[in-house]
Amino acid sequence: MGEVLVRIAMIGGGYVGLVSGACFAEFGLHVAVVETNPGRLSALREGRIPIYEPGLDALVETNARAGRLTFGDDIAQAVAGADAVFIAVGTPPRNGDGAADLQYVHAAARQIAHALTGYAVIVTKSTVPVGSSRRIAEIIRATRPDLDFDVASNPEFLREGSAIDDCMRPDRVIIGLDQKQPERARRAEAVMQRVYEPLKKLNAPLVFTGLETAELTKYASNSFLAMKISFINEMADLCEKLGANVQDLAYGMGLDERIGSRFLNPGPGYGGSCFPKDTLALSRIAQEAQSGCRLVETTVQVNEARKAAMAGRIIAACGGSVNNKTVAVLGLTFKPETDDMRESSSIPILHRLAEAGARLQAYDQVGMEAAKPLLPPETTYCETALESAQNADVLVVLTEWEQFRSISPEALAQRMQAKIIVDLRNIFDPAVMRKAGFTYLSVGRP
Ligand code: NAD
Ligand code: UGA
Repeated sequence: MGEVLVRIAMIGGGYVGLVSGACFAEFGLHVAVVETNPGRLSALREGRIPIYEPGLDALVETNARAGRLTFGDDIAQAVAGADAVFIAVGTPPRNGDGAADLQYVHAAARQIAHALTGYAVIVTKSTVPVGSSRRIAEIIRATRPDLDFDVASNPEFLREGSAIDDCMRPDRVIIGLDQKQPERARRAEAVMQRVYEPLKKLNAPLVFTGLETAELTKYASNSFLAMKISFINEMADLCEKLGANVQDLAYGMGLDERIGSRFLNPGPGYGGSCFPKDTLALSRIAQEAQSGCRLVETTVQVNEARKAAMAGRIIAACGGSVNNKTVAVLGLTFKPETDDMRESSSIPILHRLAEAGARLQAYDQVGMEAAKPLLPPETTYCETALESAQNADVLVVLTEWEQFRSISPEALAQRMQAKIIVDLRNIFDPAVMRKAGFTYLSVGRP
């Protein structure tokens, strides 16, 4: 007898729903993605991928063609016969207090409750505050008292830009179950074991915990990484003051396995759809629990100050004023290999420069369309990196796209009016740039 096919429904076809849905399908599960945004849905149905994520188009195409991955807006059709229903909708910060806005999660829970026809595990993949999985269970119970279901919390740890690899080869899979009800927990665990069977074969550790622990593990992980970045950013400042080199310092620190070498690259402050909102949300969760979370609160403050300080650094590099000066900008997205502009540090930095009278000439490989509504309206968008340097008084690197590393300093020097570079991602070699005649400033390096 062949293996019984595992069927899942994925509510939300954004970064997380689409990538993890496609990866589950690649592992042989049947995945029905439900997406309510008409533009996103029609793109997906026509085989166009609405986000930029390396490798995703091929993965979606293969699995859609094999019939394992389908897209629709009919939740009843998607959940019919599903063993597990994943919620992967957005949890943006709520206006005003920084807590996560759960309106999309709760709406999804109600829709699932109406649509289910048999037992399923309702799994939260979205990043949600502690207590949310129990709240989802309450909503479903209140909507459909007759329904037999369990809940699980299964936070996602993928990074944009390397999302497929992160999903296919995760460091760990965290699965929270209602341990207060052992019978139910066992039943839900059996389903989750089947869902993640292919990953177990790849030796990815499945960590089973309680619901609250799983929810908190996600916020704690993101906040710890954000704290690591803010720490190295402060060390970079200190290196500048003391004549030390942050790159060597990070290398030296990172060789200690207890510290680890990753996420020790200084820059213009972390951005993206998650670190800023999740650090705020964790601070809020701790406040509500009347528990201290000062390190995370300080991380948020350090990161906010960082963005303002980086704008100031660019202005200082131009002799104290950018009024009527042309600033070439390389990179706009919050990190390379994504078109995501959410909370990118480029947004406050470039607004500050525009307010100070700068003319902005920007280039980003894939982020310019998403950037346009968020950046100062008078920004000029260029076809190439070199074009952005034309007649520029200063060149600023904001995102470390790989292609920028191979730009010829001579070609830049020929085009620029003044030879000043502020490299906020440390992508160039200071010696090479200085040899080419540039005043070259980077982060935490002499
Ligand atoms: P997103 O905004 O890209 O995608 C959410 C999608 O859900 C949207 O396309 C929206 O139209 C759709 N949607 C909303 N309500 C729906 C409903 N009722 N039915 C069907 N579709 C619905 O968000 P995202 O970046 O994928 O993030 C989703 C969650 O995952 C968030 O909680 C986020 O914090 C978390 N997360 C994100 C990442 C990341 O790298 N982006 C990584 C890990 C975790
Ligand atoms: C981050 C986490 O890394 C994922 O594990 C998590 O699943 C995800 O958030 C989420 O919850 O959404 P992501 O935001 O895609 O992933 O990108 P990261 O690679 O973590 O970068 C975040 C920001 O930190 C970027 O602005 C990046 O430039 C900055 N960063 C990162 C640094 O400034 N220095 C570093 O050393 C690393």
